[in-house]
Amino acid sequence: MQTNKLRVFSGIQPTGNIHLGNYLGAVKNWVERQDSYENVFCVVNSHAITLPQNPKILKEKTYDLCAMLLACGINPKKSTLFIQSKVQEHTSLAWLLTCITPMGDLSRMTQFKDKSQKNPKSIFAGLFNYPNLMSADILLYKSNLVPVGEDQKQHIELARDTAIRFNRDFGETFVVPEPLIMQEGARIMGLDDPTKKMSKSSSDKPNHSIALIDTPDRIVKKIKKATTDSEGIIAFHKERAGVYNLLTIYQCFTKQTQEEIESEFAGLGYGKLKERVAEAVIEGLRPIRESYEKLILEQDYLHKILDVGAQTAQKIATATYTEAKEKMGLI
Ligand code: TYM
Repeated sequence: MQTNKLRVFSGIQPTGNIHLGNYLGAVKNWVERQDSYENVFCVVNSHAITLPQNPKILKEKTYDLCAMLLACGINPKKSTLFIQSKVQEHTSLAWLLTCITPMGDLSRMTQFKDKSQKNPKSIFAGLFNYPNLMSADILLYKSNLVPVGEDQKQHIELARDTAIRFNRDFGETFVVPEPLIMQEGARIMGLDDPTKKMSKSSSDKPNHSIALIDTPDRIVKKIKKATTDSEGIIAFHKERAGVYNLLTIYQCFTKQTQEEIESEFAGLGYGKLKERVAEAVIEGLRPIRESYEKLILEQDYLHKILDVGAQTAQKIATATYTEAKEKMGLI
């Protein structure tokens, strides 16, 4: 896998159901830019166990998510797709990075604060150390760019600091990665509460998120119930978070400009807005759901792709880990 293209790395956790926020904030961009970069995409199951998981369900969800990423358009001829735990160097490098990362830097991570608040009975050291595993994922592949939603920006800044610190103290080893965050879709909000990010951990709330496997009926119902306001004006006003969120979703699927969308909806009401947003989402997700339903039945094909992906990833990971380990004086 040697090209002159910049290398992209990104990951997604196999917890809960992949939702519209994951798709519009990250996966859709991975898919659309596959020709421009050399791509490495990873289903990060070792990250998932930083919170308690049912082992059987975790395993199933891991393969389901791999099938879903292929259904979304990740092309194994253009991208390496693999499961994190199949390449042990992720956790090995995470240990080296843990040994050079100040506790203070980890304490500042807003995701640790959020997740530990939401799960007060399960605050384990792995959750605290999560960002080092994420830095290892990125640095292991000497990745130039990391396409993510806005919520991951702080983690990527930490990965950058860690790369700079390692290179300074042990000699030039890692590429300092840049986040790649889209203007539209970087932060899709919950439909039930547009002041909160759409998240897998709130998927127990029936109208919070749209899963990529939701049926058209469910999508219509959820969007109909989406929180808006009483102003009745359809415009990209950030402070009116509900309408803004629906318009953003519409924009991501239709690829129109904000001006075009505002003029399309001039004089129309929220009922029409919701109807058209639902149509755009249903049509956008239809090919993905159809392809997923086929792929999930083709387990041999899926496993073959993941084996090849892990072998490709392993080669790069072994080389980088060996280099880092030796630089630190480990034999
Ligand atoms: P995860 O699994 O929570 O989310 C996967 C991707 O989806 C994006 N995302 C969103 N984008 C827009 N709006 C939302 N509401 C929304 N919710 C999630 C996330 O920003 C992410 O890009 N720590 C990462 C996984 C990870 C990773 C990595 C990412 C592990 N190692 C290395 C990049 C590079 C996470 O938990 O993502």
